[in-house]
Amino acid sequence: MPIILLTGASGVVGQALLEHLTGHTVICLTHRRPVTGPNVLGLRGDLTAPLFGLDPDEYDDLAARVDAIVHCAAVTGFSIGQEATRDLNVRGTSQVVELARRTGAPLHHVSTAFVDRQGRDTGSTARPDVYLASKRAAERLIRESGVPATIIRPSVVIGDSVTGRIAEFQGLHGIAGAILRNALPLVPLRPEARIDFVPQDLVGRTIAELVRSGETGGEHWITAGPAALTAGRMVELALEVGRDLGLRLDTPRLVSQDMVDRLIRPVFIDPLPARQRRRFDDMLAMTALFRTPEPFACTCVPLRAAELEAAFAASLRYYAHAKRLAEVVA
Ligand SMILES: NC(=O)c1ccc[n+]([C@@H]2O[C@H](COP(=O)([O-])OP(=O)(O)OC[C@H]3O[C@@H](n4cnc5c(N)ncnc54)[C@H](OP(=O)(O)O)[C@@H]3O)[C@@H](O)[C@H]2O)c1
Repeated sequence: MPIILLTGASGVVGQALLEHLTGHTVICLTHRRPVTGPNVLGLRGDLTAPLFGLDPDEYDDLAARVDAIVHCAAVTGFSIGQEATRDLNVRGTSQVVELARRTGAPLHHVSTAFVDRQGRDTGSTARPDVYLASKRAAERLIRESGVPATIIRPSVVIGDSVTGRIAEFQGLHGIAGAILRNALPLVPLRPEARIDFVPQDLVGRTIAELVRSGETGGEHWITAGPAALTAGRMVELALEVGRDLGLRLDTPRLVSQDMVDRLIRPVFIDPLPARQRRRFDDMLAMTALFRTPEPFACTCVPLRAAELEAAFAASLRYYAHAKRLAEVVA
């Protein structure tokens, strides 16, 4: 059985993937959060440091053992700053490329479907454009390196399609969570905007199959593609799930970003205290990524709308229980 090096194993994608690599020995290069498992060999390191922060013997030993590399580690937050984002996402990736070159092991690089989209600088602390520029730069350096490498582009990853479980709540959970808390009177999205998300088990399974297939090239899109739900349907579902859980929820209004800028911001947002205004602008920076009406490409097993709806509902229920929203009502 080939030995796989996995970076970012403690993250959302890394955890989802590990569940599908049970038959393999997986060396998990971990940074702050340790990862354990019967088939896991933990190796503490830092991708931003020379030789991953390992001593030369440890690095040589790693290079001698690895048969395939899956590179998931990245700065994924939008508010971390340009320097730190580039440090891990670009310079860290170039170090992973160097290991791939030295070992000859195929590299599976996890990028994002959103390299296709433009971020919008809303003047907030959240800068998706900085994140996306770093992901494009990482893809470019992999293509130019000539090492055998696949580029994997998931859209937004939500929880497991049945249980909703996820290692960490990220952006879309934040918006859905605000709806479940009845704290979001308006959502800065057109009702017909396509919100492309995929459950984490599809992501884990697809990457594991790619590793096992021995594939050494190509762009692999793990997305809902044309089946992606609309923002209107997503909000409806959040309300349905929340009300089923006994939460009292008002129906938020979906508004275009243009309407926010022209009518809503001057009257309702500008007068808010700085912290609330920043939170709103951070959300706006994220929802701006969903402006483009064209669906993403999709090269994975296509999901049907009903499957996406069921997966989204599972994620919402998991979130509501994890945050004890349902208990508050009971
Ligand atoms: N989640 C999504 O919705 C989504 C969608 C599309 C694409 N992606 C892509 O998928 C990949 C994984 O994303 P994710 O959401 O799983 O990330 P995540 O949950 O934010 O986890 C980030 C991972 O990077 C590791 N890391 C951070 N700094 C490090 C360093 N200096 N050296 C080594 N490792 C370091 C973290 O380890 P510690 O926990 O130990 O700090 C963690 O395992 C990324 O490339 C991301 O761009 C994610």
